[in-house]
Amino acid sequence: MASQKMIDTLNEQINKEMFSSYLYLSMSSYFSDKNLTGMAAWMKAQSAEETMHAMKIYDFVQNLGGKVILKKIDEPKNEWDSPKAAFEDALEHEKFISRSINEIIDLAISEKDHATHNFLGWFVTEQVEEEATASEIVDKFELIGDNKGGLYMLDRELGSRGTTGE
Ligand code: FEO
Repeated sequence: MASQKMIDTLNEQINKEMFSSYLYLSMSSYFSDKNLTGMAAWMKAQSAEETMHAMKIYDFVQNLGGKVILKKIDEPKNEWDSPKAAFEDALEHEKFISRSINEIIDLAISEKDHATHNFLGWFVTEQVEEEATASEIVDKFELIGDNKGGLYMLDRELGSRGTTGE
């Protein structure tokens, strides 16, 4: 059985995942406003994934017999200096989430909470993937520099998310 401290920590993580969803939806709105519809679609899909992450933890807390307590979701940024800056922020945010997951695992290990440790394994793998994907997109922005045609191509590529099974 998980400790109350663990339940509280998992509730905090639900909040962080919901904030992630909110942040990416805000980025989606930013891209829509710039007529970068592919990037907007990519971020909208990412936002939905983050809600799914929150719900995975929500269900787990309930399966543990704990009470889910939803906290206030902070207001995300709504402007970025450039499309590249938004994706750089997304990458930094994913690194923050990875650290947060690792901290919960440290707690699970210290409390000999094998169930939570095992549950979080999925998130560890997911974070590796999410950081890699965001990092790859930032690298592509580096490559295209100020090239408008490159930005258009990248927007089209990112807009194909969901149709490629990503
Ligand atoms: Fe749920 Fe992107 O971390």
